[in-house]
Amino acid sequence: MKNIVVGVLTLLILATMGYVASQGEAYNGGEHGKVIKDIGKKSTKVTKITNEKSDREKEQEELTHLREKAGNIGGFKVSDEYKSKCASCHGVDGSGMQYGKKLMGPKIFGQSEEEIYKKLDDFKSGRVENMIMKGLLMHLSQDDLKRFAKEIGEFPARAKALKDKK
Ligand code: HEC
Repeated sequence: MKNIVVGVLTLLILATMGYVASQGEAYNGGEHGKVIKDIGKKSTKVTKITNEKSDREKEQEELTHLREKAGNIGGFKVSDEYKSKCASCHGVDGSGMQYGKKLMGPKIFGQSEEEIYKKLDDFKSGRVENMIMKGLLMHLSQDDLKRFAKEIGEFPARAKALKDKK
């Protein structure tokens, strides 16, 4: 009789061990182990979010740089009409603007008044096709084009005067 009781108890203990082992988590800390694992998962999520943020920060820096380039660079002076109509794509000093891989406007700095005027006239008349520039110049007169060309033609001299002053 004693033997039977011991036998049954042994079986019960073995069965319990088997059950606990099959639950797995018990050996990794049970419920607590699970919570720790979850925290691990969440923290990888958190690092991902920080990475995204630094990407966004980089983008923000690029945009700030572009905004400065469109507004003011080291005291480079331009007319209000150039600043409001052209600088957002060509830069306040005509050095061109690029956002990521996208070219917003090419460099126009360094070209003579005549070259610029011819290009503007070609865009306006449609001899050179460019939807952006044509749309912009459509409502401008030939005198306006000449004024812009004259101003852009002066950029190198303005840059030099600024450099000499420094
Ligand atoms: C919305 C953006 C944008 C604005 C604003 C803009 N441009 Fe442009 N501009 C361009 C793009 C894009 C080109 C390139 C066109 C091409 O090569 O097909 C260009 C080309 C030019 C060129 C010819 C450059 C070259 O060497 O071929 C001149 C000159 C020029 N723009 C002057 C101006 C002037 C002056 C203004 C203001 C009245 C102005 N642009 C405003 C986008 C812009």
